Amino acid sequence: MDFWAELGESPVNSPSILDDRFDQIFPSPLRKFSLIFWTPVTIAAQASQLLVDRRGTRVLDIGSGVGKFCLVAAALTDGYFTGIEQRKDLVKAAKDAVAKHRFTNIQIIHGDVTEHSFSEYDAFYLFNPFEAYVFKRSRMNGALPVFVNLYLKCVKHVAAELVRKSIGTRVVTYAGCAHEVPNCYDCQLSTFGERLKLWVKVREATPHDGQFGRARRSPHIATNRSFGTLGKSPMENAGSLQRT
Ligand SMILES: C[S@@+](CC[C@H](N)C(=O)[O-])C[C@H]1O[C@@H](n2cnc3c(N)ncnc32)[C@H](O)[C@@H]1O
Repeated sequence: MDFWAELGESPVNSPSILDDRFDQIFPSPLRKFSLIFWTPVTIAAQASQLLVDRRGTRVLDIGSGVGKFCLVAAALTDGYFTGIEQRKDLVKAAKDAVAKHRFTNIQIIHGDVTEHSFSEYDAFYLFNPFEAYVFKRSRMNGALPVFVNLYLKCVKHVAAELVRKSIGTRVVTYAGCAHEVPNCYDCQLSTFGERLKLWVKVREATPHDGQFGRARRSPHIATNRSFGTLGKSPMENAGSLQRT
């Protein structure tokens, strides 16, 4: 059976195509990052089901890497997926995969999410996109600086954009602290050892909600030093879960 048909026909809870096989899509130098940096197929399958609640739901993958989430999600749902990624090499790998496998419901944008408006999207996916700014061990290579203020800039932008969305907007986070998700969103489902979460906007925001996502519930976010005391990063914890 064709690769994508096999993926599409397998149960969402246990896709028949596992990560080692799926990752053959990507150039070999990038495959080694999969365990830590790209969403596992099982998680992407679940996340896409949570995000797409009707045909044509427009989902933004914030920091899309090689496009692994978008590819799995586009194969399994009727949603339309846009990935935005700042690294050129990852964008090229994602675009090549989209073209090679003839996906018409995926768009990959090369850009910085802090310069991107969320007005065109209905739902949002985040696999810890900004952790690399604050956890050295979460970096793919030395290309990204470790700056708390860059992290804060990204988190604040995402939070401010999410605040503007209408009630009922869905956000799925995987493996992060979800600092980007404002307090006007409630966590309505938590699965995979509390790493995969569905957040839904349940009320209009107060003036504080756009300031910094869930900062009030996450006091350790204040300084660079405090990041250094957290031990394993959320991304590393996610990596240890992936191949089950
Ligand atoms: C952990 S990877 C997740 C990849 C993909 N979403 C997936 O789940 O397979 C996070 C990605 O976010 C990207 N990223 C970080 N900050 C960004 C920004 N400001 N704008 C665009 N992409 C960003 C990183 O380069 C990295 O490729």
